[in-house]
Amino acid sequence: MPSRTASFPARLQAPGTAGEPFQRVLAEHSLPTGAMRRVTLGELDVLLAHTPGGIVATDDRCPHMSAPLSIGELDGCVVTCPLHEGRFDLCTGEPVQMPTTGGLDPEGAYHPTWSPAGKDPKIDPPGKKAEARRLTRVRRLRYYPTRVVDGAIEIAVPTVPSPD
Ligand code: FES
Repeated sequence: MPSRTASFPARLQAPGTAGEPFQRVLAEHSLPTGAMRRVTLGELDVLLAHTPGGIVATDDRCPHMSAPLSIGELDGCVVTCPLHEGRFDLCTGEPVQMPTTGGLDPEGAYHPTWSPAGKDPKIDPPGKKAEARRLTRVRRLRYYPTRVVDGAIEIAVPTVPSPD
């Protein structure tokens, strides 16, 4: 039987998750193939997505400017961000389309602003805003270890020390 969770590149495992306990976060039947859901653990918003490769868990924060990917569009393994149309492959962690605001890709290469077909070209705002766009680096996704046990999706997240 195929694994119900997707494998991901080992180097993209979220920091601080090695050896952490798994926590139940959602009934498996609540996440059919093609669905995305946000689950929140303390201050951490996690995106669960059921891709053709299996279930993945990553931050529910776009790796560009942190918009919630859970309200974007999922097409196969690729999620489109609702804010600047950046597209990210949930099965590899790689960006597949840079945001309309341009900026730096994970290797640090610059990409200019662009506009979807039929829309007016984006004009760069003056001064610091343009510089902020230019210097914002889109990173690769990071993954939380995920498994399915007794019909429940479980993930491992970093333990946050209590403030007191
Ligand atoms: S915040 Fe997602 S593409 Fe900009």
